[in-house]
Amino acid sequence: MLEGQDGQATQKAMQILVALGTIYGAERMLPVSSVQIAGVSYDNLGEAGLQFLSAMADGAGRARVLATLNPAGMDIENWQVLGISPDFAEQQQRVIAAFARMGVITTCTCTPYLTGNLPRYGEHLAWSESSAVCYANSLIGARTNREGGPSALASALTGRTPEYGLHLSSNRCPSLTVQVNARLAENTEFGALGKLIGERIEASKAIPYIQGIQAASLENLKSFCASLATYGGAALFHMPGITPEATLFIPPDATFTVIQADVDAAIRSLNDATEAEVDFVSLGCPHLTIHEIARISQLLEGRQVKKEFWITTARPTKQIADRMGYSAIIEAAGARIAADTCCVVAPIQGRFTALATDSAKACYYAYAKNRLKTVFLPFDEVVRQALQ
Ligand code: F3S
Repeated sequence: MLEGQDGQATQKAMQILVALGTIYGAERMLPVSSVQIAGVSYDNLGEAGLQFLSAMADGAGRARVLATLNPAGMDIENWQVLGISPDFAEQQQRVIAAFARMGVITTCTCTPYLTGNLPRYGEHLAWSESSAVCYANSLIGARTNREGGPSALASALTGRTPEYGLHLSSNRCPSLTVQVNARLAENTEFGALGKLIGERIEASKAIPYIQGIQAASLENLKSFCASLATYGGAALFHMPGITPEATLFIPPDATFTVIQADVDAAIRSLNDATEAEVDFVSLGCPHLTIHEIARISQLLEGRQVKKEFWITTARPTKQIADRMGYSAIIEAAGARIAADTCCVVAPIQGRFTALATDSAKACYYAYAKNRLKTVFLPFDEVVRQALQ
């Protein structure tokens, strides 16, 4: 591949991986079983990114393993209702077309494990979306570093990744015990816990071993992964009774304790807007499960929203919602199911003042990317915000 026998794009891809492997001291390349590629929104990629993708597609780059995409800057099929400009839509469609030409499956989601890109324990991957990387490593026990868009694409085109970082067993050991003495149920509480632990480990890059969690739903855990990755750059945690590799380790001596008051304070810290200021409501960071969409349709049935309300999910999940009649109920209420995209990667700068969400990650980027204030509320309360 490096010598160019498989074409220009594959050669370029292998050059990227060799350079990465050299920097990180990898001894060999590993085969990967799946890839997830971030850097899909034209809002982030820009013209230079689009040209890189087009050149790789023109150079006969073709995916050798299962590869899916992170959210794009718009709903690929229904962008008009989200207030996306035709110019942006045209560029975004070119990005998607370039990926499709390379044989990348154009499911645009940060929860690939819910929609057909579900790895198994111990498999090596090249994934890039930070929340999904944390989920795959921790909840599934697959192995991936947090790839950039170009290196993930390079792995798709070669089926390889350099062996370093979290691919090595020796780098997956916990180094900090987190003792949670709080009862958590809502996504907001798990998001707040992710923020607390993330801020504690951000500098040390410790891998946390988290004790004291009695129960957690899939939805809670995807929220937690998103928050831990956002506030701590973490790509792996262990949680006895919940994550598969926790049984391999004993709790490290160094301990960080979280109590209910810490969780409550972290929740308060993500509320800097008044409810009266909220003019944008969004659920689906990370992308919603069908179970969550069912709940929204239950809460919206026969009612009318008063604010712009985006319900963001993967296209295959929306198709199930269509079949079940949830989409019709939600749209009749005036809310929008936005597939393929989210409130962070869509080009919404300047359109809104304050966002209501149950996602700690969305709160972080609402301000960092779009200068939005936030109201951080439990799931059902966010829906009620849209109705007020
Ligand atoms: Fe997914 Fe967008 Fe949140 S990519 S994790 S919904 S910021």
